[in-house]
Amino acid sequence: MEIHHRDTVYQDAKKWVYEAGKIIKEQMNNPLNIETKSNANDLVTILDKQTEKFFVEKIKDKYPDHQIIGEEGYGDQPKELDGTIWVIDPIDGTMNFVHQKKFFAISVGILHNGVGEIGLIYDVMNDTLYHVKKGEGAFRDSQQLPLLSRNKQLNEAIVGMNYFWLCENRLVDYQVMQGFIRTVRGARTYGSAALELAYIADGTLDGYLSMRLSPWDVAAGIILLQEVGGIVSNIDGNEWDPLKKSSILASNPALHKTILDIIKKGRK
Ligand code: IPD
Ligand code: CA
Ligand code: CA
Repeated sequence: MEIHHRDTVYQDAKKWVYEAGKIIKEQMNNPLNIETKSNANDLVTILDKQTEKFFVEKIKDKYPDHQIIGEEGYGDQPKELDGTIWVIDPIDGTMNFVHQKKFFAISVGILHNGVGEIGLIYDVMNDTLYHVKKGEGAFRDSQQLPLLSRNKQLNEAIVGMNYFWLCENRLVDYQVMQGFIRTVRGARTYGSAALELAYIADGTLDGYLSMRLSPWDVAAGIILLQEVGGIVSNIDGNEWDPLKKSSILASNPALHKTILDIIKKGRK
């Protein structure tokens, strides 16, 4: 993406993320019209839909040639990565949003010809914005995040994961997963993949593991994390594909190979 143009897109994206967050906060105590999607725990509310529509309208109005991949389906369904693509999760952590009214984020990743250029993750209730322009540093609000340490052992690592995968015996043997959990210092489930990736970027977590995530869950987080030297792949060590659902193993650079080797032992 041409550098001057990228700044304009970044400024717009940031403005719209803050505006969308303000609307969510103002309206979150109104009836949410909660519905379920793929299963009883897969929730969607009127604000997930409304927020995605808000972005789609703004983007299509100002950047009609840009494409959008959004969780709620108001965007496009690009088959190729050509041009500029906004990958948007209007509310990541909807279960938290519905039940806890906190620990959710707006996640916006912007790719140009397949390269992650801009990432924004807005923790709405904490009013904290993680943001990155590739090559210009990753930030939490005004604070630049340092490069991640290459000096970390697994037994002193705190790893985020969806606890659900500890009970699932499909992709990775659950006993191997349990062994992994016993090896690390601590495991956490925050319930927002976008925030969990941001937490690796700022050192709150050292790794994050999930067996099936969609592009909108992780696009912004991957761009952010890679800027500080974090490593992201699927659980087989292959590169992330922005057009597909996949497993995700993201971590501090010191731990990625070690975790990958453990998972390999239990891979089905
Ligand atoms: C979910 C969250 C959650 C992850 C799920 C995602 P949603 O996104 O990121 O942490 O474990 O797999 O679907 O549905 O709240 O946008
Ligand atoms: Ca999500
Ligand atoms: Ca969502």
